[in-house]
Amino acid sequence: MSNDVQALSSTSDWRPRHVAIVMDGNGRWAQQRSLPRTAGHREGAKAVRRVVEACVERNIPVLTLFAFSSENWRRPRREVEILMNLFLTTLRSEIRRLDVANVRLRFIGDHGAFSPTLRDYITKAEKRTMRNTGLTLVIAANYGGRWDILQAARRIAEDVAAGRLSPNDLTTEFYHRYTCLADLPEPDLFIRTGGEQRISNFLLWQLAYTELYFSERLWPDYDAGDLDAACAAFANRLRRFGQTSEQVARGDHA
Ligand code: FPP
Repeated sequence: MSNDVQALSSTSDWRPRHVAIVMDGNGRWAQQRSLPRTAGHREGAKAVRRVVEACVERNIPVLTLFAFSSENWRRPRREVEILMNLFLTTLRSEIRRLDVANVRLRFIGDHGAFSPTLRDYITKAEKRTMRNTGLTLVIAANYGGRWDILQAARRIAEDVAAGRLSPNDLTTEFYHRYTCLADLPEPDLFIRTGGEQRISNFLLWQLAYTELYFSERLWPDYDAGDLDAACAAFANRLRRFGQTSEQVARGDHA
């Protein structure tokens, strides 16, 4: 842990309860080394392991990683195939280590388009780790924020049509229950690596009050020190949730 973060940890709420990361820059990392883009993804899988370990060591309760967006199917077929293989092989090689580290694995997204082998393995991995009480590691795969909002709306419409729900009972809090991460704290800190500054259809509903942090580092180079820098920046933000700075300073409840 860097000195900066250690100092903050003793005095203030430096540790986000939920970190959500867009892992960007694999392709550029590979191109800079005249390697195929897929070499960047393989190196990116090593960064995933480093960052998961760092979150476990720092007792961060939830980490959500954007592994494959609904739009990533538009990439060259070969790259998509290699990514799917990488998900499966990484899952297979890491599941034991994750289980021993008390990590609970969760997958969000529309998995219908995945191979039956990958789908089965996802179910197995979730089942195997469901009783773990350490880090909750959420992998967003074939996920899109708009898809999440839409699937919630669809299920709400079904409940209304079946008479289980009246449109008058529909509040923001109620809607939230139908979205993908309803049982977890909302992300406190969003990190995007690779220098771009956009959300790219990640957790649109859930990011309403999240602190955004953009890093120039390409994902395959990302490490625990980078995570500490992001947490240190987070600790220095004043989160107002719509209140004035004076109200926040007084500790008024929102
Ligand atoms: C974006 O970089 C990265 C992806 C679309 C894939 C992310 C996948 C991994 C990190 C591999 C392992 C993941 C797990 C969960 C096992 P990019 O290709 O868009 O990079 P670029 O912007 O430089 O082209």
